[in-house]
Amino acid sequence: MRFFILTCACFIVPDVHSVKVFSYKELRKATHDFGGANKIGEGGFGSVFRGVLKDGTVVAVKVLSATSRQGIREFLTELTAISDIKHENLVTLIGCCAEGSHRILIYNYLENSSLAQTLLGTRYSNIRFNWRARVKIAVGVARGLAFLHEEIRPPIIHRDIKASNILLDKDLTPKISDFGFARLLPPNATHVSVRVAGTLGYLAPEYAIRGQVTKKSDIYSYGVLLLEIVSGIHNTNTRLPAEDQFLLERTWRLYEKGNLNEIIDVDLGDDLDVEEACCFLKIGLLCTQDGMARRPNMTNVVRMLTGEKIVAVDKIARPAMITDFAEFKASNKEQRSRAETLSHTTKSFTTTEPFSSSETPTQSSSV
Ligand SMILES: Nc1ncnc2c1ncn2[C@@H]1O[C@H](COP(=O)(O)OP(=O)(O)OP(=O)(O)O)[C@@H](O)[C@H]1O
Ligand SMILES: *[C@@H]1O[C@H](CO)[C@@H](O)[C@H](O)[C@H]1NC(C)=O
Ligand SMILES: *[C@@H]1O[C@H](CO)[C@@H](O)[C@H](O)[C@H]1NC(C)=O
Ligand SMILES: *[C@@H]1O[C@H](CO)[C@@H](O)[C@H](O)[C@H]1NC(C)=O
Ligand SMILES: [Mg+2]
Repeated sequence: MRFFILTCACFIVPDVHSVKVFSYKELRKATHDFGGANKIGEGGFGSVFRGVLKDGTVVAVKVLSATSRQGIREFLTELTAISDIKHENLVTLIGCCAEGSHRILIYNYLENSSLAQTLLGTRYSNIRFNWRARVKIAVGVARGLAFLHEEIRPPIIHRDIKASNILLDKDLTPKISDFGFARLLPPNATHVSVRVAGTLGYLAPEYAIRGQVTKKSDIYSYGVLLLEIVSGIHNTNTRLPAEDQFLLERTWRLYEKGNLNEIIDVDLGDDLDVEEACCFLKIGLLCTQDGMARRPNMTNVVRMLTGEKIVAVDKIARPAMITDFAEFKASNKEQRSRAETLSHTTKSFTTTEPFSSSETPTQSSSV
């Protein structure tokens, strides 16, 4: 009998999944007609609004700008795949709206915003990131990324790991947002990733220059993020003297001198395990190695962060640094236009690549 009922239910609703479909009207109501006061951010894919649903649930409503060419059916299929991916350190997708040309995603609202706006933000934030909180954030993000890379089939390469995509819930548990996004875009849509000074700093050179996307390019970005978490400094700050503009370069220089502790956030004061912090910085340097093979995989990153695995300091060489791009640009005319295009505003993605063979370099045609 029980068996019968289950079979029956599956038959009637063959596509049981947790993503709810909202009407555009409902979302307009929830966000005060997508009003300015409700807007909480704007990224490369569109704008994000805070909204309150009829039942009182507070949500983040992301209005996509570049996907109108994707069919509703295709959009929903991709969304279903994404909504099935659940992990403590990944943002939960609640639902979507695909009416006419509207393509909207509805997420769980995370009240403590992103790492970019809090830890690295210039505006005042009342959140104090003590050392334990930072450890929790670093490990949580690594676990979320390890899950995307190693535990789901086909794996997901995030492609845009950065501080603004790490959201924080009320007890500062980190949640990676915007994963699986590449799948939602039409095959040759352009993902305009603005604020390039910041974004560029997270990109592995093989990704920035050749559009080569692999798990290892995500790991590079994670490495940069890890340095930011420990130092409290944004990866790029063009207002500083030339030699201090790039966090990765500064960290490497201090590492070479044996003064790694100098880059640790002074705000931490005595509330700190210096040895553990230096260890994290070394992991950041390992993740940003020029040779992709030298970068550890996320499983091992998690193990190193939690002390289950020794950090192989003998493997730390000079990381691949953003300043290398400048040299590259100056020395290689043929590739220059591509690098320049990238450093202006756009970076494009394709969705046609095989997500399964992620160790094999895949091309993302860069305009
Ligand atoms: N679920 C959410 N809860 C709370 N705030 C959110 C949520 N999603 C996004 N935000 C806020 O909206 C801002 C903009 O997000 P969005 O993803 O559009 O841009 P981004 O992360 O800066 O760049 P990108 O387009 O490359 O992801 C984020 O920085 C974050 O502060
Ligand atoms: C998160 O944000 C809420 C609301 O702004 C605030 O009350 C709370 O203290 C914040 N959490 C932490 C850990 O700071
Ligand atoms: C995207 O693909 C379509 C159809 O294949 C093509 O007509 C269009 O020119 C492409 N656009 C870009 C920006 O490559
Ligand atoms: C991660 O790397 C280690 C060491 O190179 C290797 O033994 C392990 O199999 C890798 N794990 C995965 C899931 O690729
Ligand atoms: Mg984002």
